[in-house]
Amino acid sequence: MKKILVTGGTGFIGSHTTVELQQKGYQVVIVDNLSNSSAEVLDNIAKITGVKPVFGKVDVADKQQLFDFLKQNPGIESVIHFAASKAVGESVQVPLKYYRNNINGLINILEAMKEFKISNLVFSSSCTVYGQPEKLPVTEQSPIQPALSPYGNTKQINEEIIRDFVKVNPDVHAIALRYFNPIGAHPSSLIGELPLGVPANLVPFITQTAAGIRQCLSVFGNDYDTPDGTPIRDYIDIIDLANAHIAAINRMEESKQKQNLEFFNIGTGNGLSVLQLIKAFEEATGVKLNYKIVGRREGDIEKVWADTSFANKELGWKAVVPLKETMLNAWNWQKSLMK
Ligand code: UD1
Repeated sequence: MKKILVTGGTGFIGSHTTVELQQKGYQVVIVDNLSNSSAEVLDNIAKITGVKPVFGKVDVADKQQLFDFLKQNPGIESVIHFAASKAVGESVQVPLKYYRNNINGLINILEAMKEFKISNLVFSSSCTVYGQPEKLPVTEQSPIQPALSPYGNTKQINEEIIRDFVKVNPDVHAIALRYFNPIGAHPSSLIGELPLGVPANLVPFITQTAAGIRQCLSVFGNDYDTPDGTPIRDYIDIIDLANAHIAAINRMEESKQKQNLEFFNIGTGNGLSVLQLIKAFEEATGVKLNYKIVGRREGDIEKVWADTSFANKELGWKAVVPLKETMLNAWNWQKSLMK
């Protein structure tokens, strides 16, 4: 059974990816510092898959902790590196936290790959590296734009660090997945997104408003150059996103890479406006959402969606979950939290 290290494995994307990996026969070893997630997630993963992953409460930004853990858990062939701080707004307020966690974390992972002979890395990158693209949809060749936040900057810097590292370590194989906007939850309602405090992201805010936890959703601006004036994003189901990681791991295991480091856009290829997403939620769930239009949120880009043809062709991966199902899963997850 192939052993995979999943850093940040109790988080939103990490937990869903762990489930898909286990269901496909991988043995998953998780490290997480639980700064933004809970160890209960491990029990819920076990309820879905029948297997509780091996877990270490480890901060990947602490090299000693990471190395000690890996010494006790030999035989890992691949790592999927999710562990990172991810709140765009917070990163502007406390930039050093972001540089420390996200940059040190990756450096330690790369050093661990060398030390413990781990061959394959999947890195969580983001469409944020493209900023506001001039041409849409964005391809992997679209120019990288100056980052709008320290968070975005850490994703760009990390891609560069991996690029430099693989040049002199040809035994290491890496794939950076540039996620668009991940949403939804596992259909079992046993795992999902657990934002701390007031959610910054759209879908958790929608579901909390529908549940009565928030009074009203603020739609940040309707004066953008889009058909209904609200910004456009490419919202990707969390299970589809999880499966992209498995496709990436398979590509490296089967030595199908054309270069040691490859980049893939992971989205649906369809752009949806904020109002379209609200409508999709209402139609899927039958719940009417209380929302109002307010001013723009600073730092928001107008529109972005993915050209996914490279991922479709080379990874043999495609987003398949219908939006209605995604919205229903997000809503069922929200309801399960209130029981
Ligand atoms: C941002 C980052 C992305 C990062 C993600 C993680 C950019 C360009 N994108 O995505 O890289 O991975 O955060 O947190 O930096 N909206 C509302 N009301 C709300 C919340 C959101 O109208 O209460 C709107 C926003 O204006 C935006 C859309 O919903 O148009 C999506 O917002 P959000 O879910 O926060 O994601 P991004 O900002 O696209």
